[in-house]
Amino acid sequence: MVQLTELVDPDKLFHDDYAYFSSISTRMAEHFWQYAEWVREKYTAAADPLVIEVGSNDGIMLRNFANAGVRHVGVEPSANVAQAAREQGINTLCEFFNEQTARQICDEYGQADAVLGANVICHIPDLHSIFAGLDVLLKPTGVFVFEEPYLGDIVEKTSYDQIYDEHVFYFSLHSVSALARRHGMELIDVLPQSVHGGSMRYVIARQGSHRPSASVAEILNREIDKGLAEAATFVRLSERINASRDALVNLLQELRGQGKRVAGYGATSKSTTVTNFCGIGPDLVEFISDTTPGKQGKLSPGVHIPIVPYDHFTESRPDVALLFAWNHASEILANEAAFRAGGGQFVVYVPEVRILDDKTAYRHAG
Ligand code: SAH
Ligand code: TMP
Repeated sequence: MVQLTELVDPDKLFHDDYAYFSSISTRMAEHFWQYAEWVREKYTAAADPLVIEVGSNDGIMLRNFANAGVRHVGVEPSANVAQAAREQGINTLCEFFNEQTARQICDEYGQADAVLGANVICHIPDLHSIFAGLDVLLKPTGVFVFEEPYLGDIVEKTSYDQIYDEHVFYFSLHSVSALARRHGMELIDVLPQSVHGGSMRYVIARQGSHRPSASVAEILNREIDKGLAEAATFVRLSERINASRDALVNLLQELRGQGKRVAGYGATSKSTTVTNFCGIGPDLVEFISDTTPGKQGKLSPGVHIPIVPYDHFTESRPDVALLFAWNHASEILANEAAFRAGGGQFVVYVPEVRILDDKTAYRHAG
C-alpha cells in the first residue's frame, strides 16, 4: 500500500466550503452516466434496488439513478456540494461515511444492492471502518464498486501530482485485494478507466458470492511484472520525479526568457503539488485560470499565484498555457482550438515535460 504518513484532519478538508464541484466537467458527467448505466445493468437486477454512493458530491453520478426512479442515498460530508445535489432532488445525507453511518442507513433503508464510490475511498483514512460499514450495509450478494486514480498509472506516467493531502492512499490491485480479504470479501472484477489520468474500477463482494472475472488475476500478474510490489520501483520513480521538476522549471524559464507570458490552466489540487515542489511562483506563471467561482480571486496555496476567472484567460491572451488540468485534456484541447489557432501553446508535464504540437495527439487525457 502506498499512502501518506501525515494526515490532515478530515473536518479541515471536507466542510461547507468545499472547492470541488464534480459537475464542472462535462466529460466526467458523461463518464458517470456510463458508470451508472453499467451498475444498473450488472448489479441492480433485484426488485426495488437500493444504491448508496459514498462521496456523492453535487450528484454527478446519483442523478442518473434518481432520474431512473432508483432508490438511492448519497453520503456527502461537504455541506455546500451536498446542498447542490439536494436541490436536484437527490437524496443526500450530509455525513462522513463510516461504520456508524452505514448502520444508520441500514436501519432506515435496509441493505443495499450496490455501494458506489469514485475518487473518494482514497480520501478516507479509516479504510477498516468503511469495510465494517459495508459488512453491515451490503446484501449477501451486494457489491461495493469504487474507482480511484491507479498507482500503476502514477508510476508509469510519473504523475506525482496525484500526491496531495486529500489523497491518503494510492491503490494497486494488490493493496485493494489484501484489504478486502481482511474483511471476508474479495475482488470480483477490475476495469481500467481512462479518467483522471488513469483510474481503476474495483468491484468487491462477500467472499464466494460471485465468481471473480479473469481480469483480476491478469492485472495482479501485470502488477508483479511491472514491479509495483517492489521498493526499487519507487526509488526509480522518485528519480524521475526530480528529473521532471528540473525539466519543467527549465522550460518555463526558457519561455519567460523568450518574453512569453505563461498562464496556468485549471487551479487543480494537483497543481499545488507541482507548483510547490518545483518552486513555480508568479514570476514563472502569471495567473491560473479556473472556471470554479469559489476558487477565483484567491491565491494558489503556498506559491500564491492569483487564480482568475476563465474570461481573464481569453481576454489577456497569454502565449502559453501550462495545463494543470491535464486529466481533462481531451475536453480542454477541444474547447481551446481557437487559442491554439491564434498561436497559443500548451505545455504539459505528464508523462513528460513538453510543448504540445498539433501533430502529436495527447493520449493521457481523461
Ligand atoms: N465522487 C465525486 C467527488 C469526488 S471528490 C467525483 O468523483 O467527482 C471527494 C468527495 O468525497 C468530496 O465531495 C468529499 O466531501 C467526499 N468525502 C470525503 N470524505 C468522505 C467520507 N468519509 N464519506 C463520504 N464522502 C467523503
Ligand atoms: P480536477 O483535476 O481535480 O478534476 O480539477 C479540475 C479543475 O480545473 C477544476 O478546478 C475546474 C478546472 N477546469 C477549468 O478551469 N476548465 C475546464 O475546462 C475544466 C475541465 C476544468
